[in-house]
This record gives sequence, C-alpha cells and structure tokens, in this order.
Amino acid sequence: MIRAEHVSYSYHGAAQTVRDLSFHIEKGEFTAILGENGAGKTTAVKLIDGLLLPTSGRMLVNGLDTPKTRVSERARQVGYLFQNPDRQICKNTVREEIAFGLRAVWGKGEEEKINARTDELLDLFSFRGDEEPFSLSRGQRQQVALASTLAVKPAVLLLDEPTTGLDYRECTRIMEFIRALNEDEGTTVVMVCHDMEIVLDYARRALVMAGGALIGDGPVKEIFRDPALMERASLLPPQIVQIASSLGGEFARADDAETLSSMVARAAERRTV
Ligand SMILES: Nc1ncnc2c1ncn2[C@@H]1O[C@H](COP(=O)(O)OP(=O)(O)OP(=O)(O)O)[C@@H](O)[C@H]1O
Ligand SMILES: [Mg+2]
Repeated sequence: MIRAEHVSYSYHGAAQTVRDLSFHIEKGEFTAILGENGAGKTTAVKLIDGLLLPTSGRMLVNGLDTPKTRVSERARQVGYLFQNPDRQICKNTVREEIAFGLRAVWGKGEEEKINARTDELLDLFSFRGDEEPFSLSRGQRQQVALASTLAVKPAVLLLDEPTTGLDYRECTRIMEFIRALNEDEGTTVVMVCHDMEIVLDYARRALVMAGGALIGDGPVKEIFRDPALMERASLLPPQIVQIASSLGGEFARADDAETLSSMVARAAERRTV
C-alpha cells in the first residue's frame, strides 16, 4: 500500500531531513512513527501524502508514484490530519469545512451526495453544522479536522499527533473511532505519536526514526522491549513495559493481554508462595 524506496528529502538545499528511508506498509496495517522532536516524522508523513516530493528515491502509494499522481486522486487515496488542526481548518462553519474537502474530491456537481455525507459526519461527531470552528476548543477543532479528513473515506489515513491537547475522553473517543476504521473498514493507518501508552494500545507496528533515518521497524511490543533502540531514539517505553522488564523473568515476556493489575496480582502471589 505504501512503499518507500530509499527516500531522502532536504528542505531548500539544507542538510537531509529524511535519509534513505525504505519500508513497506501493507493495506490494513496500523503503524506508528516514533522518534524525538525533529527526528523527521512530520517530513516522512508529508512525503507519504505527496505534499513533499522525495529529493531522491521513490514513494509509492497504492502502486502510484507520488509526483505523478493528480492531487484529487491523491486526496481520494490518502487523508492527512495535520499536526496542528488550525493549519487545516479554513472555513467559517463546521459544515462548510467538512463539505469543502468532499467538494475538492467529488467535484462541484455532486452537491446532493456531498450534503448527505456532511450530515452523516456531523451526526457521527455530534457537531452542529453552523458552529464556527474557531469558537470551539482545541480538542473539538481536532475532531472537526479529523471529520473532514475522513469524509472521503480515504484508503490511507495519516495522523500527525492526533491526540495532542485532547483530554482523556476526547482522546479515547478519537482513538476508538480510528481503531474501528482500521479494524472494520481495513483503513491503513499511519500515526505519529509521542504518547507511548496510546501507541501500545492502538498501533501494531512501529517505525522508529532518529536524525532523519529509520533505526527500527517491527511489532510495537518488540520495539518497546529493545532498550538500546529506545535509548537511541530518546524514547521511554510505556510504564507497563518498564514494570514488566524490571520484574524480569516471565514478566519481561508477558503476553499482549497482560494488564498492570493482573501483573501486580501475579507478582504478589509469587511473593506469598
Ligand atoms: N519547512 C521547513 N524548512 C526547513 N527545515 C524544516 C522545515 N520543516 C521542518 N524542518 C526541519 O526538519 C527537521 C525535521 O522536522 P520534522 O517536522 O519532520 O520533525 P518531527 O519529527 O515531526 O518533529 P516534532 O516531533 O517536533 O513534530 C527539523 O530539524 C526541522 O527543523
Ligand atoms: Mg512533527
């Protein structure tokens, strides 16, 4: 679905921001891109989206080379939620914002279809169509941006830190929504995220970047259990993984379903035996 072949990118002749990136993401995967600030994650996402074109190498989405794909075709394939929703929102009402993206892809002659889909999304996200996006909270604006990104049902969803600034309820609501799209509709999800607990709960694979290069690629659990890799990427694994590895032995190899409370109960049982 997404194939990066030795992709490098430099901003305006500056040093390479992304270096020799190669990976292949299959349809239906849920992949997180991890790395410290400035590692090149947003640049990588923009290269997948086609907003930036590789300085060298090739980025193929659904078999199509990004420079050769028409913008409307690309928007049908790939939805991109920006790191900052305010860079994305450009209309005065929530209804117009959602309809705007649909119109760009479906064309102006499809007003009836556009209205029906807009109503569906307003309903799904419990928005009032006449609300002004900039009078909403940051979390709600993030949801408006997400709703308009999802409207055309893209095959690939690129999310750049989708939960920043959200409270716990908003975060769970958005993430469960994305999980359902991935599991029920087979949407391929690529998510940049600094919150390792969310990565552990939702993503299955992680790409780890440092200094513009890919330094790790594998199942999330395995990445988190690789202290040398985590250190190189300046990342801390989620608490449950830290606790499991400090308990050692069988706990360090705890399976995916192990929760913190069951782990503590098991450790306490051991002590009393
Ligand atoms: N438009 C630009 N022009 C020049 N340099 C840029 C531009 N955008 C980003 N950079 C630089 O490229 C590097 C990677 O930036 P990028 O935004 O891809 O990192 P990131 O991993 O997304 O970081 P963060 O976690 O802070 O969002 C940084 O050093 C940044 O300063
Ligand atoms: Mg970024």
